[in-house]
Formats: sequence, C-alpha cells, structure tokens
Amino acid sequence: MDEMTVRDVDVRDKKVLVRVDFNVPLNDKGEITDDGRIRAAMPTIEHLVENGAKVILMSHMGRPDGKAAPSLSLKVAADRLSELMRQKVEFIDACVGERVEIAAGKLKSGDVLLLENLRFHPEEEANDPEFARQLAQLGELYVDDAFGTAHRAHASIVGVTKYLPAVAGLLLEKELIALGQILENPARPFCVLFGGAKITDKVKLLENVMDKVDTILVGGGMAATFLKADNYEVGKSIVDEKLELAAKLMAKAKKFGIKLLLPRDVIVTGDLTPEARGVCVPIEKIPPLGRIVDIGLLAISLFTKELERCRTVFWNGPMGIYEMPQFSEGTKAMAEVIGRLHASTIIGGGSTAEIVAELKMAEKMSFVSTGGGSSMLFLSGEKLPGVEALLKKAAIGKRNLG
Ligand code: 3PG
Repeated sequence: MDEMTVRDVDVRDKKVLVRVDFNVPLNDKGEITDDGRIRAAMPTIEHLVENGAKVILMSHMGRPDGKAAPSLSLKVAADRLSELMRQKVEFIDACVGERVEIAAGKLKSGDVLLLENLRFHPEEEANDPEFARQLAQLGELYVDDAFGTAHRAHASIVGVTKYLPAVAGLLLEKELIALGQILENPARPFCVLFGGAKITDKVKLLENVMDKVDTILVGGGMAATFLKADNYEVGKSIVDEKLELAAKLMAKAKKFGIKLLLPRDVIVTGDLTPEARGVCVPIEKIPPLGRIVDIGLLAISLFTKELERCRTVFWNGPMGIYEMPQFSEGTKAMAEVIGRLHASTIIGGGSTAEIVAELKMAEKMSFVSTGGGSSMLFLSGEKLPGVEALLKKAAIGKRNLG
C-alpha cells in the first residue's frame, strides 16, 4: 500500500481529527441494528488513545440533505462507542464553530470526542473549502478511516487534506489490502457470487477481474436480467434497463473461458404481501404473472458445488428478497456455505455485510468489507477520492510528520 498510515506518525499529545464511517443502520426506535462499522473503526481509535492522542471523531449518518435531522444524530454512535471502548466518549451536537473548538481544546491526551453529523451542513457534500478549513482547524493531523465513504469527494474526506497532513487509519489500510488482493493475486480458482438488483456496478467489477476470475454465479434480482438476456421468459420480474450489459458480459465470459452460471430453478410468487408464498420452478417454466424472489433448490446445490471447489470467493448481494423471511432461504444457504469454506472469503459491504452480521456469520468470513459503493468501485478499478487525497510514502520519505 502506497499511503502513509497512522503508524507512520507521532500522535502523542496531538489533536487528531479522524474521519470515520459511523453510518450504521437504525431501527424504528433509532437503535443501532448493526454496529459493525463502529467496531471496525476501533483499532485506529484505540491506537490513537494508547499513543496519547486527543481524538476528535467525525462522521456522517444517513442522507439528511444538509439539514439538521434529530433522528440522524450521531449521539447514539457515541453511546455505543463508549460501551465498546469502556471509556467515556464525549459527544457534541455540532461539528464546527466556537463551541466545538472549545470542546476540542479541552481534550486531554487519550480523550475521545465525537462531533455531530457532518451532513447536517450542505457544505460537507459540496466539499466547501471554508467548511473544510473549519473542520481542519480542530486538529493538527488528519486520519481517514472511513473506507465506506472513500468514494465521496466531500469536505471531511478531501477538503480537509488541503489544510492538514493526511494519513490512512488502520481500517482503511486493512480494506485496501484485503480488497487489493482480489485485484492483484487471488488464489485460484476464484469465484464471484453476485445477487441484488442493479447490474451496472457489478458488470464493471467483473470486467476488471475478467482475467482472474474462474466462476461467476448470478442470483438475486439481477438473475432475472441475465435470464432475460439469455432469452428466458421471466414473467413479472424486474429486469434492469441495462439488459445489453448482461448479454455482453455473458459473451465475454464465454470468450475468456469463464464459467458463468445462472440459477437452473427459481422461487416465484404472484404477490409480495407478507403472506405471499413462493413455488420453485425450473427457469423454462416461469409463469407470465410470476416474479422471481429467490433462487431454487437446484440452484443452491449447483452454486454450493462451485463454491466448494474455489480458493477465493467474493460475495455481494442477496439471492432473493431477503427482508421477507419466506424468500431468504437462498441467501441464508449461501452465507452458510461460504462461512464453512476453507478459502479466502471476502464479503462486499452494504446490505451483504448487514445480512452476514444478522446471521452471525461475520466471524466465519475471512473479511467483511465496511464499504458498499466504495468496495464495488475500488474493485472496478476506479480511484477513490478519499484514498487519492492521502499522503504517499514515496513522496514523504523519512520526513517526520509528528
Ligand atoms: C455507505 O453507507 O455506503 C457510506 O456510508 C456512504 O454513504 P452515502 O452513500 O450516503 O454517501
């Protein structure tokens, strides 16, 4: 990895401004349902605390569109972090301004302060230079540990790096190494399992790893698009408008000698009410009013066989409508199979990471990314603004930033 990290700098007694991604899912009561992203940021925070830094954390939560929204306050994340660290994490209901400067100025070495949701200010997403400057003046050094938001060129990600020396946190480093391995040198056979609805990001990713991947398995909503592109009738299933991308990808996979497998059978239903029931049908017999909601039993066993012969597996996207328990069987089966493989198993972030956490399978995977969009873009070969903005080891040499 080319970027300088928090290990390369002296942080003792310094005010260190850390961008984390505490954009965690909340339930109707405003409680955190998956604290994976908070836990994932802890190694960096603990490293800073142990090395005597004064830690100022900043994050976004949700998409409040530049307005204060009490339901998206980060107070809940400060409380959870306090519990996890067994140390009081201070919270302030603002992220810039005099009160914040005073609170930051009062910190003692080893203290941790979390600021309020950055996206309550439209200047954050606009990458406003003055807002970035106000954030930057809170610290003496900037650490980016928000891999999940590294694809956003926002003030707290890119803007602040114009004013402060900027290094990577330990989570960002871990993500770049784990995902980078897929791009550089995956142990073969290498299998990609894709589900979910949208195909554009996934097709880009597959094109980027075409020379390394051995098997592509397609389930979830996107299976309907691939089946349609392969001339099957898919009834009322939603087909992605980018149908031609699926056709192109299938042709390319054939040319590269890659095994691209679609489900041989699927679960279909006529309605999506909570009481809806599905039936398992072969793909040749999808009824005109049927909608694909999960992969079938044959597909589960075919996919299992493929996964079991692979040494690297990357999985992103549920196999069906996971939120409806009656259509979650395919996804659960894949999580269980991948969890017991003796292979390098990497889970894309976003909803797949949440599912794996809910099924208590996260510990069984080699790596669960905290990035949804960012991990897909990174694996598609795109440059992430949050990574590009960090200091490079080669450029700095032995200069002491501490
Ligand atoms: C995510 O959940 O993918 C990140 O926190 C980024 O959130 P965003 O898509 O709202 O920018």
